[in-house]
Amino acid sequence: MPRTLISIDNACKTYDTPEGGKVNALKDINLNINYNEFVTLLGPSGCGKTTLLKTISGFESLDSGDIKIEGKSIINTPSYKRPVNTVFQNYALFPHMSVKKNITYGLDINKSLDKAEKDKKFNYVLNLINLEGFENRMPHQLSGGQQQRVALARAIINEPKILLLDEPLSALDKKLRSNMQIELKNIQNQSGISFIFVTHDQEEALSMSDRIIVMENGSVSQEGKPEEIYYQPKNKFTADFIGETNLINGLVEEENGLIKFKNENFEFHLTKDFQQYINKKVTFSIRPEQFFTNDVPKESNPYISNFNVEVIQRLFFGPNIKIVCKIKNQIFHCLLKISDQETIKLFEKNKKISIYFDVTKIKLFE
Ligand SMILES: Nc1ncnc2c1ncn2[C@@H]1O[C@H](COP(=O)(O)OP(=O)(O)O)[C@@H](O)[C@H]1O
Ligand SMILES: [Mg+2]
Repeated sequence: MPRTLISIDNACKTYDTPEGGKVNALKDINLNINYNEFVTLLGPSGCGKTTLLKTISGFESLDSGDIKIEGKSIINTPSYKRPVNTVFQNYALFPHMSVKKNITYGLDINKSLDKAEKDKKFNYVLNLINLEGFENRMPHQLSGGQQQRVALARAIINEPKILLLDEPLSALDKKLRSNMQIELKNIQNQSGISFIFVTHDQEEALSMSDRIIVMENGSVSQEGKPEEIYYQPKNKFTADFIGETNLINGLVEEENGLIKFKNENFEFHLTKDFQQYINKKVTFSIRPEQFFTNDVPKESNPYISNFNVEVIQRLFFGPNIKIVCKIKNQIFHCLLKISDQETIKLFEKNKKISIYFDVTKIKLFE
């Protein structure tokens, strides 16, 4: 059983704006974060991610609700006494101090440690961030990724129970960023510190996290393991925000005992599992990679349905091709696996093709 490290109970936060209005930045947030967990807050700009981190670190206070660490409320504990550290996007290293000075700055303030203890801690984090031999460099003599690792070491050396990371990778270019994603995950694993990582990049969240908290407009839209969030979105917002999906509006109807989805462009039969939606306006979600061409015979699975579409665009990605196609006014995006050059020809512009999907795999939202 995972053990709870932080619990956030009914957290609310409103800001007064300079224009005289109010912003509900956090609306009744309830969350638990476990020991040794990599949790990601994911959501569009302005949804309250930074505010939530700030209320945990103590840079902002809650209007109501509570935050407990190991069962004890911390909301009246000053920021510097909380077992929490933050890593920001813009590193904020001291430019005139060496790597070593930057990393040990927090320890130097703590006079109770002797030199041997300090060195031991320093060597541990230097090894963790993989920068041995760089201790005497100045920040301007480091790459962006190395600077970010120094910022990380500086935050870890005081052994916080929780590390808050506010979009720490967004200043890095794509390649460095994906290397740092792997390193960050390793550092979290090795240090055993719980990470609360903030990003608006869904791929980053999917690849790194033990658990993702999807936020929308000050509320939690959904939380779960990356694969749950991806395959079992509970609402339109999550389905649309995580990964790519086709969202199609229509109506569910019953006709001669059969349930079907229908709009002005097409219709198809649904299974009994969709009974609850009869006579309701719905949006259905199907991911591009859930479509396939005729390599699975329809007869072998009664739940396979198909659309006859016209190709309007074809994008080649190596192992996959993306097909943009349509039935009347309805556009679909499909991501199809291909294994050879001949197959590509089947999907030329203006070709009529059939795309298949498993009806039991689509998601309906009211
Ligand atoms: N100090 C502040 N004063 C007024 N409004 C703020 C302040 N900080 C943030 N906000 C507003 O609160 C909302 C949430 O902001 P924030 O937590 O920074 O979102 P995110 O980090 O997800 O982009 C936004 O609408 C933002 O404009
Ligand atoms: Mg932010």
